[in-house]
Amino acid sequence: MAMEGSTLLCVPLVAKTVEQMAADMAAAKAAGADLVEIRVDHLSTFRPREDLEFLLKGRPLPAIVTYRPKWEGGEYEGDDNRRFEALRIAMDLGAEYVDIELKVAEEFVRLISGKKPENFKLIVSSHNYQSTPSSEELGSLVARIQAVGADIVKIVTTAVDIVDVTRMLQVIVHCQEKQVPVIGLVMGERGMIFRLLCPKFGGYLTFGSLDVGKESAPGQPTISDLLNVYNIRKITADTKVYGIIGKPVGHSKGPILHNAAFKSVGLNAVYVPLLVDDLANFLSAYSSPDFAGFSCTIPHKEAAVRCCDEVDPIAKSIGAVNTIIRRPADGKLVGYNTDYIGAISAIEDGIRGSRAKDAAVSPLAGKLFVVIGAGGAGKALAYGAKEKGARIVIANRTYERARELANLIGGRALTLAELESFHPEEGMILANTTSIGMHPNVIDTPLSKQALRSYAVVFDAVYTPKVTRLLREAEESGAAVVSGLEMFIRQAMGQFELFTGLAAPESLMRNIISRL
Ligand SMILES: NC(=O)c1ccc[n+]([C@@H]2O[C@H](COP(=O)([O-])OP(=O)(O)OC[C@H]3O[C@@H](n4cnc5c(N)ncnc54)[C@H](OP(=O)(O)O)[C@@H]3O)[C@@H](O)[C@H]2O)c1
Repeated sequence: MAMEGSTLLCVPLVAKTVEQMAADMAAAKAAGADLVEIRVDHLSTFRPREDLEFLLKGRPLPAIVTYRPKWEGGEYEGDDNRRFEALRIAMDLGAEYVDIELKVAEEFVRLISGKKPENFKLIVSSHNYQSTPSSEELGSLVARIQAVGADIVKIVTTAVDIVDVTRMLQVIVHCQEKQVPVIGLVMGERGMIFRLLCPKFGGYLTFGSLDVGKESAPGQPTISDLLNVYNIRKITADTKVYGIIGKPVGHSKGPILHNAAFKSVGLNAVYVPLLVDDLANFLSAYSSPDFAGFSCTIPHKEAAVRCCDEVDPIAKSIGAVNTIIRRPADGKLVGYNTDYIGAISAIEDGIRGSRAKDAAVSPLAGKLFVVIGAGGAGKALAYGAKEKGARIVIANRTYERARELANLIGGRALTLAELESFHPEEGMILANTTSIGMHPNVIDTPLSKQALRSYAVVFDAVYTPKVTRLLREAEESGAAVVSGLEMFIRQAMGQFELFTGLAAPESLMRNIISRL
């Protein structure tokens, strides 16, 4: 059980049989849950007294019993009297909590009046599957739920935008100040941050599913992720929040990497996925110093240049920011680009054949550096290589974009067809910055094996799969190859150093990446 005052971890049980529910309850205990929610409305057949006796007798964890009707988002379709009776039985059998919907709470409270066991708590809940109301409406909802006789207030809303979450956070903080126990939840992927940050703001409990596919509501993380990726037991009011801003963002490995890195240096910080639609709105809503820094990915890297108060000169030239820091001294947002440092240092080390980072002259100086692609990564690579004294050639599917970028940095533009027969000199370096060859299209490659013979070094920004067809054929053609994974690790290490001012735990981060 968690410490007094900390947020409890609850696993919802949504199995179709009581036997499976009992097994899931034991699994929830083994997984580290503090309590379970028995969703009897999910059972395919339910005999209230017998089944509740079976489930509650000798249960390994405290239990909330919920019998959610269809009209409130549950599975039960019958009349309310049967539900009330089952919930009353649950209370009599010693369930620690029963959840009843606000719409019928008055009636249920009347039914159990004077019969509540001493340690029993009534949760009165309200669910909104469409949106998150205004702060005023949420405030009056709390008051109505309290007035009906709830021991614990439960409000569940849906995030249409990640900014909606801030209104629920305010409610939680307000209730915490008034010592009103409140379970808040914001459903949907845009509301995920609320579930993860519950302990920081003082929510009574947060839900974690037993496994993927066993969620009781959209956007619910697994209990294993809550405990092992987000280290939720360590989150307190003082925890600093970092995160990856993107759309989509669910696939990002950033949380696994950065949370483990924070933990390894003993930093009181958490790194969360932030599904953001409008970057400017997000940054103005989450302006507290506790939201200390962000990674930025597709499609927000360019907007981030405009949204920061200050931008590092190279990030400005590239036109893309992938790291934002809230400067502690004045709260200003400062933007950086660690993609280019990550990629360029990986290629430099690939050329040197060792990882000596401090040689005075870059091995890129004077080399012909061919970039395929003219998007965010293409720009970063082209600017980075130019900075190091390389001569730049840009080849892109849309020739116009290649020409624009080549003009900007002082290089030459080619079409992809022209690139096939382009070999003006030996010892050229090739960098693919398009998504060609990326999973699942692993048989695609941006340049023929024949053309690869002109290159001494080949880099691929694509890192799923780890070895792309381009890299495999380049190696077979005798080139030194540099993997996109190396760029990924190094840009993440750069971010960690900007976030924390500490050296990144390199071997730990490499270890984690190698296991992904
Ligand atoms: N390793 C890392 O750490 C890391 C970091 C950042 C990015 N990346 C990878 O780099 C790749 C590009 O990312 P980005 O942010 O630069 O994306 P982006 O801004 O959308 O640019 C995509 C580029 O790829 C070209 N392209 C896309 N599909 C193509 C196709 N089927 N055939 C030919 N060209 C194609 C585009 O050409 P047009 O101009 O003609 O559209 C454009 O030049 C992605 O695979 C991403 O995962 C890796």
